[in-house]
Amino acid sequence: MEKVVSGIRSTGHLHLGNYLGALRNFVKMQEGYDCYFFIADLHSLTTHPHPADFHANVKIILSEYLAAGLDPEKCALFVQSDVPEICELYVLLNMLAYKGELERTASFKDKARKNPDNINAGLLTYPVLMASDILVHNADYVPVGKDQEQHLEIARVYARRFNNLYGVEVFKEPRSFNFGNQSPVKVPGLDGSGKMGKSEGNAIYLCDDEATIRKKVMKAVTDSGPSEPNSPMPEVIQNLFTIMNLVSSPDTVSYFTEKWNDCSIRYGDMKKQLAEDICTLTRPVRERIEAVSSDEAYLSKVVAAGREKARASAAATLKAARQAVGFRNF
Ligand code: TYM
Repeated sequence: MEKVVSGIRSTGHLHLGNYLGALRNFVKMQEGYDCYFFIADLHSLTTHPHPADFHANVKIILSEYLAAGLDPEKCALFVQSDVPEICELYVLLNMLAYKGELERTASFKDKARKNPDNINAGLLTYPVLMASDILVHNADYVPVGKDQEQHLEIARVYARRFNNLYGVEVFKEPRSFNFGNQSPVKVPGLDGSGKMGKSEGNAIYLCDDEATIRKKVMKAVTDSGPSEPNSPMPEVIQNLFTIMNLVSSPDTVSYFTEKWNDCSIRYGDMKKQLAEDICTLTRPVRERIEAVSSDEAYLSKVVAAGREKARASAAATLKAARQAVGFRNF
């Protein structure tokens, strides 16, 4: 069976971008693939979270994974730091990772620009750790959003580089995956610019109640409306349609597209519909979050089983990698 690996950083609650770009695909993929889904707690350390919040953040993602429908009977659900094989592979891959190429990655440049006082080596080698997460299970597919495409390409480069350097076929080159879409999606923010993100303050969270969702959507940035039929759509409006395409029925999208084209669109109506469709989509997840997160015994059972499954898979790949590098027992 083909293998699937993916994870989400433990830096707070999951938002609609995480859900549509990644988690929704995880839930579907667990039905037909050998899946390894994890909580990337090591990756969250680049920003030095307070120790009192660290574990709580892991628990939030775990609960939201389960509430969204990830089934520990169907996939390995684990915490990244529970699998030390990832860190060992990270050391090996770091020897093939060059400073210049890491400095050129878009996310490094962006984060270094925003936080000039904390450009640590972990931030620079963030894609190496991510490649280790993926390659340690020899994944065929990695469901991720568009912002992670470059990191995935780096994982492919390291797989090739390792195999070439040691003249082996230890690693496969992983590919991105999205149901119903050829390429990874990017969910825009509600502020009319860029992508929906935790630090951007423009997100709808899976745990937001329905009144909050409606309020946020009604406040989304729009313009004064089309001035003539079939005029080109400005980015802020295109963004609303992008979200609508991901959460609403094709009929709804066509209805509002026609209204845009003949200049009769009322943004208030469009937003109302969009808010309802987001509420409907996220309702089942939201309704389960509290029950799941309060069941401590269940959560610890889930991570223990996930750890065992993930470590077994990772150990097999790491053994081959160590062998290729030249480690031998005395
Ligand atoms: P993270 O935690 O920033 O995001 C988790 C997943 O959500 C997707 N995502 C989005 N997709 C579409 N539109 C958006 N606005 C949006 N915002 C976030 C991301 O693309 C991602 O798929 N480095 C990763 C976590 C990670 C990982 C891995 C992923 C660590 N190791 C190995 C895959 C495989 C990250 O920071 O994602």
